Amino acid sequence: MANLLNHPEVIKKAKNEIDTHVGSDRLVEESDMSKLPYIQCIVYETLRLHPAAPIWSPHLSSEDCIVGKYNLPKDTIVLVNAWAAHMDPKMWSDPTHFNPERFENENEVNRLLSFGLGRRACPGSNLAQRTVGLSIALLLQCFEWKRIGK
Ligand code: HEM
Repeated sequence: MANLLNHPEVIKKAKNEIDTHVGSDRLVEESDMSKLPYIQCIVYETLRLHPAAPIWSPHLSSEDCIVGKYNLPKDTIVLVNAWAAHMDPKMWSDPTHFNPERFENENEVNRLLSFGLGRRACPGSNLAQRTVGLSIALLLQCFEWKRIGK
């Protein structure tokens, strides 16, 4: 919500999406979330700028392997800094800027490290994203939001 308050144009666009696809006669429901892709972009962009797990739990190589340009012998402990990867200007344009539009290109989501990757990735990621998205949608649908200071 802090990111949204600093970007009223994002609030306006998200409210328009809710007005168009849900209206004001009833509350947004979880089943509406597939019709609200911009709200989903807000969730992704928030998790990019503020990953809940900025450094993943340690991973251990069970055999010799290569990750990117690194040779990892068996039993190497690897710590992935998701926050740093999310701030890498080689991967993201203007990485410190809150810009949900960057996720309107669906391929961008594959670069997010917020939920881990591969076989040990977070099994709750869909549930988490839908729940957070629904909460944002309800807060925007039910209240008027604006900053009280600069
Ligand atoms: C915004 C919410 C959440 C975030 C950011 C998040 C993030 C993560 C991350 C980064 C990992 C580690 C992945 C790795 O080490 O490669 C993880 C693992 C896990 N998450 Fe989540 N998670 C969230 C919500 C949830 C929810 C709602 C559930 C269950 C309902 C859940 C269940 C798990 C479990 C069981 C694992 C361990 C998977 C394994 O080790 O095989 N998470 N999560």
